[in-house]
Amino acid sequence: MSMNSAQIREKFLQFFAERGHERVPSASMIPGNDPTLLFTNAGMVPFKDVFLGTDKRRYTRATSAQRCLRAGGKHNDLENVGYTARHHTFFEMLGNFSFGDYFKREAIQYAWQFLTEELKLPAEKLWVTVFTEDDEAYDIWAKEIGVPEDRISRIGEKDNFWSMGDTGPCGPCSEVFYDHGPEVWGGPPGTPEEDGDRYIEIWNLVFMQYNRQADGTLEPLPDPSIDTGMGLERIAAILQGVHSNYETDTFQALIKAAAQAVGVDDTESKSLRVIADHIRSCSFLIVDGVMPSNEGRGYVLRRIIRRAVRHGHLLGAKQAFFYKLVAELINQMGDAYPELSEKRQIIEDALHREEQQFAKTLERGLTILNEEIAGLEGTVIPGDVVFKLYDTYGFPMDLTADIVREQKLTIDEEGFAQAMAEQRQRAQQSSQFGVDYNSQLKSSQQSEFLGYDSNEGHSTVVELFKNGESVDELAAGDEGIVILSATPFYAESGGQVGDTGRLLLADGEFEVSDTQYIGKAIAHHGKAHGAIKRNDRVEAQVDAQRRDNIRRNHSATHLLHAALRKLLGEHVNQKGSLVEAERMRFDFSHFEPVSKQQIAELERQINAQIRANIELSTQLMNIEDAKQAGAMALFGEKYDDDVRVVRMGDVSMELCGGTHVRATGDIGLFRIINETGIASGVRRIEVVTGAAAVDYTLGQQRLLDQLAAEFKTDHESVPEKVAQLQSRAKELERQKEQLQQKLAQQASGGLINQVTDIGGVKAIVAELEQTDPKALRGLVDDLKNQLGSGVVLLATAQANKVSLIAGVTKDLTKRVKAGDLVNQAANVVGGKGGGRPDMAQAGGSQPEHLSEALATATSWLQNELKS
Ligand code: ALA
Repeated sequence: MSMNSAQIREKFLQFFAERGHERVPSASMIPGNDPTLLFTNAGMVPFKDVFLGTDKRRYTRATSAQRCLRAGGKHNDLENVGYTARHHTFFEMLGNFSFGDYFKREAIQYAWQFLTEELKLPAEKLWVTVFTEDDEAYDIWAKEIGVPEDRISRIGEKDNFWSMGDTGPCGPCSEVFYDHGPEVWGGPPGTPEEDGDRYIEIWNLVFMQYNRQADGTLEPLPDPSIDTGMGLERIAAILQGVHSNYETDTFQALIKAAAQAVGVDDTESKSLRVIADHIRSCSFLIVDGVMPSNEGRGYVLRRIIRRAVRHGHLLGAKQAFFYKLVAELINQMGDAYPELSEKRQIIEDALHREEQQFAKTLERGLTILNEEIAGLEGTVIPGDVVFKLYDTYGFPMDLTADIVREQKLTIDEEGFAQAMAEQRQRAQQSSQFGVDYNSQLKSSQQSEFLGYDSNEGHSTVVELFKNGESVDELAAGDEGIVILSATPFYAESGGQVGDTGRLLLADGEFEVSDTQYIGKAIAHHGKAHGAIKRNDRVEAQVDAQRRDNIRRNHSATHLLHAALRKLLGEHVNQKGSLVEAERMRFDFSHFEPVSKQQIAELERQINAQIRANIELSTQLMNIEDAKQAGAMALFGEKYDDDVRVVRMGDVSMELCGGTHVRATGDIGLFRIINETGIASGVRRIEVVTGAAAVDYTLGQQRLLDQLAAEFKTDHESVPEKVAQLQSRAKELERQKEQLQQKLAQQASGGLINQVTDIGGVKAIVAELEQTDPKALRGLVDDLKNQLGSGVVLLATAQANKVSLIAGVTKDLTKRVKAGDLVNQAANVVGGKGGGRPDMAQAGGSQPEHLSEALATATSWLQNELKS
């Protein structure tokens, strides 16, 4: 019996564990703290720093089965999925590693032994390659292992020099190939037919020797090392005697589950292979904390999900199917990856939500695309069409490319990029709203900011403005702007509002109501109470209490940002913030409301960090170093080369120019007062801290006190009391309706006796006392039924309001229209009405004329029915 994938994985790890290798569990597909990589794309990624010598482990040999993603970044196979027998977005890489321990000889021996002795692959089916100049590896294969020389090829840098990325560990490599036999087309490595599927690379042995620098030069590693990688899916295909990875156990199970979920019988279709591949990458991305979004990794996830959904649609899926495959994935891989079961709910929910969202626009987008294709001249879909599909219908660019590829068409990528750039520009322009009252002003001054350490400082006036003009002096009573050479006042920026306070003059003061930048000058806006001239010395005093509140709120945004990412996932990105003295608000990307429980959890975590009284530190750093160190920066924001990094222990690290507390304990208390959505995929949280948070909490308490007092009960019983009241109110409402019905029935019983004959037609014209106008309608219906054929006009008056309603049985509507009848009466009571020929209603405002109105209507009827 052939081995299933789980058995092969285990056999590999066991083999190397028996040979002194530490079994290291698969790391996340999101490389920790490595901004050079989008995803873990090879087994060696988690060991990068060990190869570079900057990280030490207690072992020098390791083995792992690492989950990898090749979708986006240097190694990207997304476009090939479904089109070849062996490309995947997600795959597992089996690897053995030596960190300065063994080198080429043992690596080659282990590989050969494992393949031929453990897996019992026939030696004559194996081919090997070495890097052109690597005689050492060539000799080991030829002389020590005994591979015949006609099955060893020397290959150049493109295929036999492996690099992790544009920078990082790299070295020459040697690859083992498997010959799938003459019935498959293709030639051995290095021949013109090498791209065929007959000879498939199964194992890559990398002789790690260098660290590639950004400028391309190769620096030797501290110790020559070994990194190997064998795709589990490929070796499984060989051992299971099949040619395509999609025919192996894991994929067959997923393909069957997909066929069932979509509702098709034929399991051969390309679309099912795509779906089976994509459920693996999408589920594991979510396991690793990525959520669908419009940026970075979240967008890669969104693209893959949408591609899968579209292939389901192609097969005729009528309802959401993708999330249903998680169950089978857990069957297949849950033992090796327990985190799949642990996060099952989160995975299913996220996939389901994304699928439902996209399903809404998919159909419409496809119609637009098909129309476009029908009218297309040439074979390229224009960029603006690709953009419209992206912008309005949520079609990622590569999805459109994938769709049209089936009809041998391509897309204009450059035109798409151009349309994207134009949209970005429009967005930027429209976000610069409002009038900038500094836009007219220019200043070449640069003020030094003293306010990180102090609320006060002595300084010199270097420039003054009044009515938008530079002046030498402001007189007492003037409003204007003062610029100082140095100042503790913070000018509005980075979401933090400007300071207020005063500048003490020789005689009097300048009252500062706001602080803004003019270029690099810090401008104090306000009113002079005393004369102030250029070159005057002043003492600047920030309103310290207000500033302290602002500090608290600003530091709280950093804690909130970090806590949100930890609780909700790394798709949370800051979209904007406003830090004021009274409160702060924080906007961030997230696709659904933050639940009450999550709000409570945020408050708990952040208040614990406040109690831990973590000291803040700030540091000026080079922007690249700061990003390398993992500091959070705003996406798309432009930063100077040198940036200020604000750190709160290991809780938070952000680029920030704002003013902060000395230690988190200064924040005192953190309370969330509101959570709302402000745009699609953007949420807003509002927060109060310090004394404002205490006041808020006391206010809530007072409210509860009042409620409890009203209900004459204690706090805990208030909800129960409210529930009781509500059910009592419902009961009363029900009783009231019953009574009204009864009353109306009684009233109609009397009315039927008031029938008169007008020109041979049965008619009832009557005023009812104290009747709910809403009940009149039902009454008229009742009376019409009882009469069988006839005309009814009912009226009721309440306070200064009259309600009229007329009904005419169908057989008579040719002779009398209910609308005409009701208006005859309505006219007299100062109203107007309308409705259908058989039923019409009107109001009026003069109850004192109601009898007259009914008399008028009656004589009108007599007249109408005479003829
Ligand atoms: N890191 C090597 C690869 O990915 C083994 O092929």
